Amino acid sequence: MLERIGGVAVARTPAQVRAWSQEVRAAGKRIALVPTMGALHAGHMTLVDTARAHAEAVIVSIFVNPMQFGPKEDFSAYPRPFADDCARCAHQGVDLVYAPTPETMYPRGFQSHVEVEQLTQGLCGAARPAHFRGVTTVVLKLLNIALADVAVFGEKDYQQLQALKRMALDLDHPTRILGAPIAREPDGLAMSSRNVYLTADERQAALVIVRSLRAAQAQVRAGERDVPQLIATLAAAMTKAGGRVDYAQIVDPQSLQPLETLDRPARVIVATWFGRARLLDNMDLLP
Ligand code: PAJ
Repeated sequence: MLERIGGVAVARTPAQVRAWSQEVRAAGKRIALVPTMGALHAGHMTLVDTARAHAEAVIVSIFVNPMQFGPKEDFSAYPRPFADDCARCAHQGVDLVYAPTPETMYPRGFQSHVEVEQLTQGLCGAARPAHFRGVTTVVLKLLNIALADVAVFGEKDYQQLQALKRMALDLDHPTRILGAPIAREPDGLAMSSRNVYLTADERQAALVIVRSLRAAQAQVRAGERDVPQLIATLAAAMTKAGGRVDYAQIVDPQSLQPLETLDRPARVIVATWFGRARLLDNMDLLP
């Protein structure tokens, strides 16, 4: 018997998840997996809805993955409102929550990793060297036990989504990796578990991110093609509002290579610090 928390069944071990999934599959149902680190918000729930549109059974995993945090990053401070997360999952009709402990995920002697080499080099990979290795390793483990038909990830973490698609393709994983659009607050701020780190003033100032991405998109639609100019305008706006720009780039949406000219599909991607929060956002420039 699985324990129930906040109205949803909770599995704690790979064996429990696999047994559950095998039973669901034997009943002819499809399974969708939504991996998360918890501190669930409405953005995560849009992924659950996408998952539901592709499957009869939805698993949400909740695991703050130590392997993807750098030594000076916010692993200990990362919010862990587990009971609320379970209630939220129950409310959204999630069928199973998988919440392993770090010891279950990484037993003594653990020493195998997965690395997607090129897609993880630039952008977030530049400032967070071991981050994506931790992400791909944990997600492959989750895919291997969930036996899901699809797994859903947000475009908010655009580089992560591209790396995971590449990993599944390269390693012949049978689970299909699906992307879901960025969910935003009514004022445009991309939803994030890290938004709780923002003071009221920082949160207001951080609106410059979405505003300047939208401005760049509008400029491109009006015919602007000068990449350095577009980036300089973006970065200046964010700096002026008190942000510390980690990067602002215009890249090819698949390869994530920086573009010199806007003669093909392009995506603008930024990471900017406001106070203690490093905020990510991105947008299509030329679809
Ligand atoms: P986490 O930051 O909890 O995000 C879980 C999933 O929710 C990711 O796919 C992320 O892109 C998506 N997401 C977060 N905010 C979103 C928003 N505003 N709109 C749409 N999707 C959003 O990303 C991770 O956890 C981890 O790296 C994980 C993949 C779980 C591996 O540990």
